[in-house]
Amino acid sequence: MPIDSEANPQPRVYLETYGCQMNIADSELVAGVLRRAGYSSAARPEEADVILLNTCAIREHAEDRVLGRLSDLARLKHRRPELRLGLLGCMVQNNRASLLEKAPWLDLLAGPDSYRRLPELLGRARFDSAVDVRLDRGETYAGLAPEHADGVRAYVTVMRGCDRFCAFCVVPYVRGRERGVPPEAILDDVRSLAARGVREVVLLGQTVNAYRHESAGFGDLLRMVAAVGGIERIRFTSPHPCDMSDAVVDAMASEPKVKPYLHLPVQSGSDRILAAMDRGYTVSEYLALVERLRAAIPGLALSTDIIVGFHGEDESDFAATLALMRTVGYDSAFSFKYSLRDHTRAFRLGDTVSEAEKSRRLTEVIALQEETSLARNRALCGREFEVLIEGPARRGAGMLAGKTPQFKTAVFPAADSIRPGDLVTVRVDSATAHTLHCSLAG
Ligand code: 5AD
Ligand code: SF4
Repeated sequence: MPIDSEANPQPRVYLETYGCQMNIADSELVAGVLRRAGYSSAARPEEADVILLNTCAIREHAEDRVLGRLSDLARLKHRRPELRLGLLGCMVQNNRASLLEKAPWLDLLAGPDSYRRLPELLGRARFDSAVDVRLDRGETYAGLAPEHADGVRAYVTVMRGCDRFCAFCVVPYVRGRERGVPPEAILDDVRSLAARGVREVVLLGQTVNAYRHESAGFGDLLRMVAAVGGIERIRFTSPHPCDMSDAVVDAMASEPKVKPYLHLPVQSGSDRILAAMDRGYTVSEYLALVERLRAAIPGLALSTDIIVGFHGEDESDFAATLALMRTVGYDSAFSFKYSLRDHTRAFRLGDTVSEAEKSRRLTEVIALQEETSLARNRALCGREFEVLIEGPARRGAGMLAGKTPQFKTAVFPAADSIRPGDLVTVRVDSATAHTLHCSLAG
């Protein structure tokens, strides 16, 4: 039974999301579960009967943000004790005991495999705090229609969990073992998105290219999704370099809807550090993969994730990371200071790089990437690209914005006839590190 269903026939839920795209997709799933259980959504916490924060545990900083927000929201609950306040997701799975110690007034704690049971948990939370952090090897949420946000692009979770256990990473502990969503459930979701006008789907999984369900692998899945009419573009994130099979590369190369953009996390450019991280590849293997991808997929854009200051990373390891960035020439990169995570294999090794040194290395990585992104974007001046229109540009009145096949942001002067979801060809006039400034071609 939904909370307060007699007194309040449609209790309002305010849902706030932290962390990765997977969490955003999980929040859409939660919104769907709660809507079907009779809840409506609140635009602001002040208007809500239930507030849920979908949390992230990947780095300490992510957890600190949630704890800060929680102390703000505690004030609301103090004023309105009937307000139900709960945490969902990875941080709950990681820290249940300490969370209940820090915030004993929390009404609900639900891990990433408990969302199907949320209405029941919220019902229990009327009387006592409800906790559910069971990990479930079989839970794929297949058939639970998510409440996708409006727009030309939608995110579709195709697999959950991770079996890789990189030494720094908490994900396998908080999200459990790998399991693929059955293709039929994925295709049903994609077909209904296409019918609603969605033109681009992004397939999500922690190691998305390790997708498997019975005899179907990720290459098969890409082709099945590409066969859905109305979907013009397909992307996926994040693949693991070791799972980049020929079948996946072939599907990317031969299926025009799978666009030439790949986020390929490298983490470090030092063989010593890659081995300590348990990443499963060497620098030369990674570079050979980049070559194989670039040979098979013309115009491929690459982005990556980089961690600075992992246990034992010295100046020469860090120099090797900068050298690898120069060799590959990424179009963009996400970089992070190493954050020690409880439960992980690297946790007991501790930190060897000071916070100040991590900051210095991070600044260098960011500066190098800005330089590279700018040079790569400027080299596109004069070239034409097909852009999927998303809507008005965030900056610049009268400008439209969309993405090129390489997932670069293109902005250009609006024309009355152009609508979100249209594909138009533009020519690049000038570029910054993050934006291509274009005009309509033809
Ligand atoms: N510290 C810093 N960054 C991390 N990541 C994962 N775990 C950690 C950690 N403990 C980064 C990796 C990963 C991205 C999603 O987050 O680069 O690819
Ligand atoms: Fe974490 Fe490694 Fe799994 Fe990615 S592949 S989620 S970094 S353990």
